[in-house]
Amino acid sequence: MKARLQGRVAVVTGASSGIGRALARALAQEGARVALLARRRLDLEALAAEIASRGGEALPVVVDVTCQEEVHRASEAVLDAWGRVDILVANAGVYVQAPLAEMTIEDLERSFAVNFYGSVRCALAFLPAMRARHSGHLVFMSTQDVMIPIPPDGPYVAAKSALTSLAQVMRQELRPVGIRVTVVHPGRIDTPLIAHLRMPSISPKASPERLACEVVRSIIRGRRRLIYPATGYLYVLREILPALGDWLIGALKLSGWPVGARERLD
Ligand SMILES: NC(=O)c1ccc[n+]([C@@H]2O[C@H](COP(=O)([O-])OP(=O)(O)OC[C@H]3O[C@@H](n4cnc5c(N)ncnc54)[C@H](OP(=O)(O)O)[C@@H]3O)[C@@H](O)[C@H]2O)c1
Repeated sequence: MKARLQGRVAVVTGASSGIGRALARALAQEGARVALLARRRLDLEALAAEIASRGGEALPVVVDVTCQEEVHRASEAVLDAWGRVDILVANAGVYVQAPLAEMTIEDLERSFAVNFYGSVRCALAFLPAMRARHSGHLVFMSTQDVMIPIPPDGPYVAAKSALTSLAQVMRQELRPVGIRVTVVHPGRIDTPLIAHLRMPSISPKASPERLACEVVRSIIRGRRRLIYPATGYLYVLREILPALGDWLIGALKLSGWPVGARERLD
């Protein structure tokens, strides 16, 4: 099969685990050189070695996306190594849940620090290089929680909603200068992020590898939005009949309560 991203440079944040790791592998398989960004050095180095053993090229870059200085240094490291950046996947994220009765401002700040400011900081760091070449692609990892917000995900939903809205503005502002923006809305994906959630059998977790394939396809096709797995019906229902939508989420046990947490509050 022809490698469809041959010669491109892709940056993936949160590449040490879950969706980011699967995406880095999928991008490398399509011929992209991949910069692997996250805090866990050993995991990044192991992934870089694995990609190299398959004939790909990967650059591990240790970075905390909440730190402006470190993100700036990371962007310089990628540009020094490869001289360009074609794709940034702002994927690093944390799942901060808190029932309203217990939610604090610190919970919101912790979520916004990574999910919103961390993603935007990375985009702003790599944008000048894309602007200079009038070409590039920003991919933001949102969630289906912003379409179907559920308890007790307040801090997580708030930050991802802000990110999604800003990404939609960016999409319109950047298109005329040759830069595309894709927002990805995953459902429940089988990664360490949600290992603590109990899932109803009607809503099984999807594999990060399948999602990664869909994201790569969306990048290649320049799609503005990816919803995977497709749960649009629930979204439409909730928009038109919110009371019925809320009831269904409860009845089908689709909320994101960690094991035992609901009982503790009752
Ligand atoms: N899994 C799901 O069901 C699901 C659903 C919807 C959306 N998402 C989104 O998908 C993205 C990836 O999640 P995942 O499920 O793959 O989770 P994961 O396995 O826990 O991976 C999270 C990644 O984010 C990185 N990260 C966290 N804080 C960071 C920081 N301060 N600086 C740099 N990197 C940081 C982690 O790396 P280090 O710890 O090494 O820094 C890790 O690589 C997240 O944005 C998440 O919100 C996930």
